[in-house]
Amino acid sequence: MSDGKAARSKRAFTEISELRPLFSVNTSMAETVIAARNLRKVYRSITALDGVDLEVHSGELFGLLGPNGAGKTTTVKILLGLTRATAGEASIHGIPVSDPESRRRVGYLPEGHRFPGYLTARETLSIFGRMSGVDSATLARRIPGLLERVRLEKWERVRVKKFSKGMVQRLGLAAALVHDPDVLLLDEPTDGVDPVGRREIRDLLQEEARRGKAILVNSHLLSEIELTCSRVAILRAGKIAAEGTIDDLTRRESRWRMIASPVDEALMAAFRETGAGVERQNGHLLLSVRDLDHVNALVDRVRSRGASLVELSPLKSSLEDVFVGLFRPPDAPAPAAPSKEGPKP
Ligand SMILES: Nc1ncnc2c1ncn2[C@@H]1O[C@H](COP(=O)(O)OP(=O)(O)OP(=O)(O)O)[C@@H](O)[C@H]1O
Ligand SMILES: [Mg+2]
Repeated sequence: MSDGKAARSKRAFTEISELRPLFSVNTSMAETVIAARNLRKVYRSITALDGVDLEVHSGELFGLLGPNGAGKTTTVKILLGLTRATAGEASIHGIPVSDPESRRRVGYLPEGHRFPGYLTARETLSIFGRMSGVDSATLARRIPGLLERVRLEKWERVRVKKFSKGMVQRLGLAAALVHDPDVLLLDEPTDGVDPVGRREIRDLLQEEARRGKAILVNSHLLSEIELTCSRVAILRAGKIAAEGTIDDLTRRESRWRMIASPVDEALMAAFRETGAGVERQNGHLLLSVRDLDHVNALVDRVRSRGASLVELSPLKSSLEDVFVGLFRPPDAPAPAAPSKEGPKP
């Protein structure tokens, strides 16, 4: 990667070094519900987690991203006390995860879960509800509504062995919600679900976040996370490689799209004199600049040459661009131009 490209990708990818300390994220007074500091997990010769810090707040949908084997499930298992961290601390509602009390208000959807095939959907939720301490009268009231929310109301009395993969997944989500927890840990919640079902799950999760739940979603489906989560962390080989809001991660402040009229060679030369990168593309200019002052200097050049500014917007990358950028081998060429321009509709 050239020096210029390296500098740009450093700015664009909001590397974690620029984001520390994680524990001071401004979340407008929301309560910290899930907290992990310096988590390490070593399985014999494999270091699954290597110093992970996380904080998820009430009312927040947080996405934990990463390729296969990055450590997403290990993180969730530690938060649930299903496996012990080799080092570091984690708590839920301030209670250390080693204390079973920390899990009382937690709903969990495991990765690739299975339910006994001989149970009906209603029986499954009833058993999960009772195991979570919900009384029968409350369950009788709550289960029909829950099945409706995951679009399984017509399958209430059908045995789970007749369910498709996506239906089992939606039933798993209902099981995670059956005791109305205020924390949700969801490991690949839309795995195997069709596009309509995925959208319904997204809506349901956003509704639960609006109701104040703290939700941690593990996924490698970047578009899903981009559409759902307010904040994300990207795990790379057991470390958090980038963390922030989707906007933080996808903004490319160093690249701008400009439409001005007229644009002639003299104006482009005037831009280049300032050190800006200038490219013409389908009737607009793609500008690579140092910072906001530099953009303003270019606008001054437009005006001083009697041209008019028609449009000026920062270019954004998709979460996929960010992800690919983080995992691209150091000597692989960066894409020449951004794949998307401007914010998504
Ligand atoms: N019980 C275990 N024993 C040994 N190694 C394990 C165990 N569980 C996980 N690992 C290893 O730890 C690393 C992280 O695994 P983890 O399941 O947390 O990844 P993940 O990000 O959830 O991946 P995926 O996207 O495939 O679900 C991997 O290298 C994996 O092989
Ligand atoms: Mg996993």
